[in-house]
Amino acid sequence: MDQGDCSSAVCHSLDMANAAKRQGQKPATTSDTCNAEIEQLSYDGRGVAHVDGKAVFIDGALPGERVVFRYGKRHKRYDTGQLLEVLRAAPTRVTPECTYFGTCGGCSLQHLAPEAQLAAKQQVLQDSLAHIGKVTPERWLAPLPGPAWGYRRKARLGVRLVPKKGGVLVGFRERRHSFITPLADCKTLDPRLATLLPPLTELISALSCADRIPQIEVAAGDRDVALVFRHLVPLGEDDRERLRAFGERHTLQIYVQAQGPESVTALWPLQPPLLRYRLGEHEAEILFAPTDFVQINTAVNARIVDRALELLDPQQHELVLDLFCGVGNFTVPLARRAARVLGLEGDATLVQRARLNADHNRVVNVSFREADLYRELDHMPWGEERFDKLLLDPPRSGAIEAIKHLSTHRPSRIVYVSCYPATLARDSDYLVHALGYRMASASVADMFPQTSHTEAIALFVAE
Ligand SMILES: C[S@@+](CC[C@H](N)C(=O)[O-])C[C@H]1O[C@@H](n2cnc3c(N)ncnc32)[C@H](O)[C@@H]1O
Repeated sequence: MDQGDCSSAVCHSLDMANAAKRQGQKPATTSDTCNAEIEQLSYDGRGVAHVDGKAVFIDGALPGERVVFRYGKRHKRYDTGQLLEVLRAAPTRVTPECTYFGTCGGCSLQHLAPEAQLAAKQQVLQDSLAHIGKVTPERWLAPLPGPAWGYRRKARLGVRLVPKKGGVLVGFRERRHSFITPLADCKTLDPRLATLLPPLTELISALSCADRIPQIEVAAGDRDVALVFRHLVPLGEDDRERLRAFGERHTLQIYVQAQGPESVTALWPLQPPLLRYRLGEHEAEILFAPTDFVQINTAVNARIVDRALELLDPQQHELVLDLFCGVGNFTVPLARRAARVLGLEGDATLVQRARLNADHNRVVNVSFREADLYRELDHMPWGEERFDKLLLDPPRSGAIEAIKHLSTHRPSRIVYVSCYPATLARDSDYLVHALGYRMASASVADMFPQTSHTEAIALFVAE
C-alpha cells in the first residue's frame, strides 16, 4: 500500500499548508516536495517510504514517522529524498549528541535511540536473510551490546588545507561528499583519540607541507596510541622535528608514510612497541601495528569472540579452520580449546602478525598461510585434511567462493561473522539450500553504534 501523499502540486500544497499551520509557519512553496509515511529503515540507515508504488530513501527519517521531504535524485527503480520536516516523530527519535551530525559522514543514526538502532539492525538482517537468502534462523540470540560512545579505536582522518574555510581541516568526510568536516571533537572516537583533534589541526597548520598531508591514521591499543601521517612530499627536518615533539608532548607513537603501507616508518620513538589488546576470557593478548586490520570496537569484539567460541564449541580433539583470520583475533582463542587450528588470510603482513601472536601467546597448535580466498581455491591447504569446524569472518564481499569449496568437507559447525547482511544472506542461501546446513541461530552485535553498519554472527549446523 502506498503511504505517500503528494503526486500533485495541489495535494502537496495542502499538505504543506496544513503542516505549516500546525507548526505555526508559512507553507513551503516548491512543487517537488511531498509528505509520506516511513515504513522501514534501509540497510544504510535511511527511512524508506513508497510514493505511487515507488520507493523513496530519505536521509534522517525513521520508521513510524510522517515526514515532509524534497525529492533528490530520481532513479528508475527508486528515488532519494531530503528530509524537510518531521510531522509526527517516532518515539525512538532522540536529539543527536553531536553538533556535526548531519554533515559529517562518520555517523548516520544519532537521531535514533541506541537500543532502537540495534533492533533496526536486527530487522535489516532478518529482512536480508528472508529476501536474499530465503532463510530464517531457528533462533535469534540476544544482540551483543557495547558502549554507545567513545568506542572507536581506529580511524582514518582526512586532512585538507582550505584557506577560504580558515586553513587546515582535520576530520571525517562529509556524508556523500568528498569534503572534510573539520572536527574539534568526535563522540564515537576513543576519547584518547578525540582529544587530539584540535592539537592535530594546530600541528598540521604549523607544518611547511601542510597542503601535502592528505590523511592521518589513528589507532589506540589498550595502553598506547599511534598516529600515522601520510605525506605526499619528502618531510623536511623542521617538520619531522615538529611531529616528534608532538609525539613526545602527547605521549604518542608517531609514524610517517611516504607511499603504500610498506613505507610506514616510526619517527617517535624510533622503535615503538606494537599496539595490543587483551581478550581476557581467553588468556590472549593480540599485538598489532597501527595500519593492521583490527576490529574497531574493543568491548564488542571481545563479546563476539566469546560468542563465536561458544557457538562453534571446539573440542580438544577437533581441527578448526579460521578463514580471513587477520592478526589471529579468533585463531589464538580457538587454539586454546581445539586440537589444532589453521588460519588463512590474504594479507601477507597480517599472516606474519598472526604468527607473531601465536608465539606471543605461547600457542603452538596453530599454523597460518597466506591465501587469496577469492581466487586460489583449487589448491587450498584444506583440501588435504578434514576440518571439524569452520569460522569465517570475511570482508563485505562475503565468502561464497570459499564456501563452494567446502562441499566435500562438511564441517559439523560453521560460525559466520559478517559485517554486511546482504552477503551473509547470499552465502546463507548456499549453505542452507545447496549444502543442506541448518541456520541454527543468528544475532547482531553493536560493533558500530551511531552508524548504519551491521555486524552479525550466525551458526550453521550440518544436518
Ligand atoms: C573482517 S576482517 C577479519 C579479520 C580477523 N578475523 C579479525 O577478527 O580481526 C577480514 C579479513 O579478510 C582479509 N581478506 C580480504 N581479502 C581477502 C582475500 N582475498 N583473501 C583472504 N583474506 C582476505 C582481510 O585482510 C582481513 O584480515
